Amino acid sequence: MADKKSKQFQSKKPEPESTDPIEMLTKDHDKVKQLFREYESAGDRAHDRKQEIADEVFTELEIHSAIEEEIFYPALQDSGDEEGQKIVAEAIEEHRLVKQLISELRGLDLQDQQFDAKFKVLTENVEHHAEEEESEMFPEVEDVLEEELDELGARMKTRKEELKTSGLGEAAA
Ligand SMILES: [Fe+2]
Ligand SMILES: [Fe+2]
Repeated sequence: MADKKSKQFQSKKPEPESTDPIEMLTKDHDKVKQLFREYESAGDRAHDRKQEIADEVFTELEIHSAIEEEIFYPALQDSGDEEGQKIVAEAIEEHRLVKQLISELRGLDLQDQQFDAKFKVLTENVEHHAEEEESEMFPEVEDVLEEELDELGARMKTRKEELKTSGLGEAAA
């Protein structure tokens, strides 16, 4: 039986991950931004490292956008909030562009001159999109979906785990 006393002797467990959907998505954005910086600072000849970073970026973005499109965006759309509808429509178009860029990049050799140029465009697009989500969409969601945030976050977390383990992230390109 786990009473308070015995808990003191347990080894330190990591803090349970937050189910705040905004926090989850913002963390994902930060992670991808970090990967973009690593890509930029990897030397021109660090092909293997750059490929590794690029692959991680693609997978992260695919899982992230799947969760947004399957759960987060529909929640805002279903709220009936007019501003929310507009914001989601724009976000979906931006995702479409990002997916297109990822699929083109996957078909290119990293050593191809086009790769760096296209990866830069991907970086700029994703950073612009993430910035808009953080400054416009997330405050709107916090406003109109205040009561549902925990439930939303829990569903997103479960789906993220599924996508990570099933490797759907890579197949979804
Ligand atoms: Fe997004
Ligand atoms: Fe996002």
